[in-house]
Amino acid sequence: MSRIKSYIAQRIPPGVKPTARRIYHLPADVLNSLLGRRDPLTPPKGKVFFGGGDFNRVGEEYFRYFVELGGLKPDERVLDVGCGIGRMAVPLTRYLSDRGSYEGIDVFPKGIAWCQENITPRYPNFRFRVADIKNKEYNPGGRFAASEYEFPYEDASFDFVLLTSVFTHLLPDEVENYLSEIRRVLAPGGRCFASFFLLNEDSLDSIRSGKSTIDFRHDFGRYRTKDRETPEAATPTRRTTSGASTRSAAWASSSQYAMGPGRAGGIS
Ligand SMILES: C[S@@+](CC[C@H](N)C(=O)[O-])C[C@H]1O[C@@H](n2cnc3c(N)ncnc32)[C@H](O)[C@@H]1O
Repeated sequence: MSRIKSYIAQRIPPGVKPTARRIYHLPADVLNSLLGRRDPLTPPKGKVFFGGGDFNRVGEEYFRYFVELGGLKPDERVLDVGCGIGRMAVPLTRYLSDRGSYEGIDVFPKGIAWCQENITPRYPNFRFRVADIKNKEYNPGGRFAASEYEFPYEDASFDFVLLTSVFTHLLPDEVENYLSEIRRVLAPGGRCFASFFLLNEDSLDSIRSGKSTIDFRHDFGRYRTKDRETPEAATPTRRTTSGASTRSAAWASSSQYAMGPGRAGGIS
């Protein structure tokens, strides 16, 4: 069933996906709302415009990585680049103190609007803003190029920058610009948590034998993609550091590798 769903999902044109999701989940969302079964910090399924998995479970899983692997402390200043619809923000609302803070930016205005309406009024030290960057899938009319975008924050203004499933949608020159912006906004001692798909012998073998959960068939040299027309739909990068995995959690000073989705010990 999930293979059929993902087959259909991969064939829906990028700009139409958010609407298709809303329609698909409408009956369940209406029912949950009528029965009062909705947690105010969990968006209706139809508004979660990306990915799969349980919204809260995935958020909690990554929250543990931020604390256990990244050493995130309650009074630190957090920047969430590509914050989506608050999946990582929600568990952080229960952890960051009043002295800590959270800033989320994203290219998808509707996700930001939901966070501004539902999270900020309850947690004023959690703020969200739109990054008006062009992205075929999430913001086709955007004004700026991600490869030249300057994060709207002062130098050295964060202790912890996170990007979960965001570099997997960017092309190499965009990733390079973001890495340089992350370096600029991180204070001394700051850390960055980012997830990637990595291309190495192990993952290439899985792709060749049809075992990879995503079919990265188009090879552009420095990266691969599953969709030639919309390369940012998911892009794995050639491995540039030691270690082996399909997806990794990478750190500014060290790297912590995890096995990829669909594999033993895999992460979400
Ligand atoms: C798969 S979603 C992950 C969202 C969120 N990080 C999470 O884990 O719940 C990818 C997100 O990246 C955002 N995005 C895509 N291109 C971006 C860019 N150039 N800058 C910032 N965010 C971007 C999308 O709008 C989307 O919210």
